[in-house]
Amino acid sequence: MKGQLITLEGIDGSGKSTAARHIASKLAETLPERKLVLTAEPTAGKVGQILREELARANNIETESSAAQHMQELFLFMADHAQHLTKTVLPSLEAGAIVLSDRYADSTAAYQGVTLRGIVPDPVQWIQNIYSPWNLPPDKTLLFVLDPRSALERMQSRQGREKFERLEFLRSVDDNFRRMAALEPQRFVQIDAGQDAENVAEEAIKAILHLTCK
Ligand code: TYD
Repeated sequence: MKGQLITLEGIDGSGKSTAARHIASKLAETLPERKLVLTAEPTAGKVGQILREELARANNIETESSAAQHMQELFLFMADHAQHLTKTVLPSLEAGAIVLSDRYADSTAAYQGVTLRGIVPDPVQWIQNIYSPWNLPPDKTLLFVLDPRSALERMQSRQGREKFERLEFLRSVDDNFRRMAALEPQRFVQIDAGQDAENVAEEAIKAILHLTCK
């Protein structure tokens, strides 16, 4: 592969989507000769759209999702990822681009690693095992780390499930992300997402330039 794959990960409200836009415009200034592809999961494709509708629905109803619904959601995320990989990520890398993906397979391990608790044993590892024969690991993963309570405060305007439930969920997802980062310190760069947006983008750019200018 000629290009580099950089993924941005973090809990909801960690500010990674805002950072992605800042990073993309700064990178375009700093490395004008490089092609840059800013992409995301869930994608804007067919499966990604189904997922967004499902997530909105699950967020707004009071009843718990069933085990079958959680499994279905996992495989929809995986199907969306497979399409993202083959239609966008691989061809862009082949063309030599820097690919910045706002969420990627690690989100599936971290989030569905929580929703599948009690349904499959050790769900994070289980999901990673399913991915490992065909997923392309990122060259770098920037993990935007923010205390779940602060993340929830940032999202206060967003509607959804009862606050406590949401906080507990985000804490578990945050926990999964931190464990995954600790196990792969050479791939993950942890960024303090509590700083102002300018500094967050600055730190992220430094990590990316370190990789692309090697
Ligand atoms: P995203 O669009 O990044 O949310 P936002 O920009 O609003 O923060 O992702 C939508 C939701 O989907 C988010 O709560 C995280 C979740 N998600 C998963 O549960 N599994 C996955 O594999 C992915 C990619 C996202």
